[in-house]
Amino acid sequence: MAVSAGLADVVAGPTAICDVNGQLGQLFYRGYDIRDLARESSFEEVVWLLWRGELPSASELATFRAELAAQRRLPDQVALMVDRLAAMNATPMPMLRVATTLLQVEDPNADKVAEGAERQASVHLVARFPTILARYQRRHQGLEPVEPSPNADQATAYLTMLHGTPPDELDRQALDILLILLADHEFNASTFTARVIAATLANVYSAIDGAIAALSGPLHGGANEQVMHMLEQIGSASHARSYVENLLAQKKRVMGFGHRVYRSEDPRAGILRQIARELGERKQDTHWFDIATQVEETVWNAKHLYPNVDFYSAPIMHQLGIPTDLFTPTFAVSRVAGWTAHVLEQHANNRLIRPRGDYIGPAPRPYVPLSAR
Ligand code: ACO
Repeated sequence: MAVSAGLADVVAGPTAICDVNGQLGQLFYRGYDIRDLARESSFEEVVWLLWRGELPSASELATFRAELAAQRRLPDQVALMVDRLAAMNATPMPMLRVATTLLQVEDPNADKVAEGAERQASVHLVARFPTILARYQRRHQGLEPVEPSPNADQATAYLTMLHGTPPDELDRQALDILLILLADHEFNASTFTARVIAATLANVYSAIDGAIAALSGPLHGGANEQVMHMLEQIGSASHARSYVENLLAQKKRVMGFGHRVYRSEDPRAGILRQIARELGERKQDTHWFDIATQVEETVWNAKHLYPNVDFYSAPIMHQLGIPTDLFTPTFAVSRVAGWTAHVLEQHANNRLIRPRGDYIGPAPRPYVPLSAR
């Protein structure tokens, strides 16, 4: 049996949702180039596209936006639990998992592995993740939660609930594009986790709970928070080169660089670099962008590694006023769209996912009785 460390280059199954061309640096959702989607569409259009395979018509989109907005409010018990976890100083990723489990408890149809029930559960998850995170953050800061607006789009709703005031158009657009770019990425670690869980015929909430756990690690979605810590430690663009060279001399990884699949630039990183620049210029604070570009140049010169999607996500989220410990949960606000699309796809044509291990332990040997050990 062929063995591939970390399942590198293993094709684990068919999918019609997302295609990554790592050689050419291309990414498509349902056949649409991510660059076109980032320029032309909205997060809500992308969610619909990922779930249903086609872009929505104008009336479908209006209905879907209203449906998401109507579902944003948290059930009382979930809201109380978020408050309690904020009071306990729980970190946001485990808090999001607890809240997801409680959404399952509150959903009478949670265990129905049927398309209608799962689609409804997916609407709940996508609509409520921003409310959960914003409520947690406000409580954590000793502030009153902001009720979800009945007709805001996802990016506006999240930033408004977080900050208490609606974002300006540039901030709204920056977050909307970030949400579009992060929404899916084929069989990445968290999505694959979701599919493995779903393939046991466990329900969508369980699959998303596992996916959040997989996303949290610093080699995956957790990298965006590490990037921000690094930029803060570097402090100024003039220190970036020596900091990175020192890191590499110690054989440490520079967070936000490298990718399992891309052998040329991740198309999302290029778009995000541009947004980070625009946000910095508009806010007359290019400090973070300047450090980031110096880091990028140094890593390129030393290792020929490209930045991945997490690298420029960090200065963008920072400029949007999102606290660093909400960066990875904010990634989940977007990726839950892809996770749920993959659960729906897995359940539509399910087979248990059960690979083999490459046994490297001792050969069969006689049992040694306790008295002889
Ligand atoms: N910094 C320094 N060196 C690196 C980095 C990095 N960020 N990434 C890869 N390398 C080097 C490795 O040291 C290795 O070099 P070697 O062959 O001389 O030992 C070579 O590149 C290959 O690295 P692998 O670990 O084999 O690559 P793999 O495909 O397993 O890992 C990963 C991919 C985990 C993304 C890796 O690049 C990494 O750790 N990056 C930093 C963490 C990060 O940014 N994660 C976010 C990824 S994007 C996402 O999940 C949304």
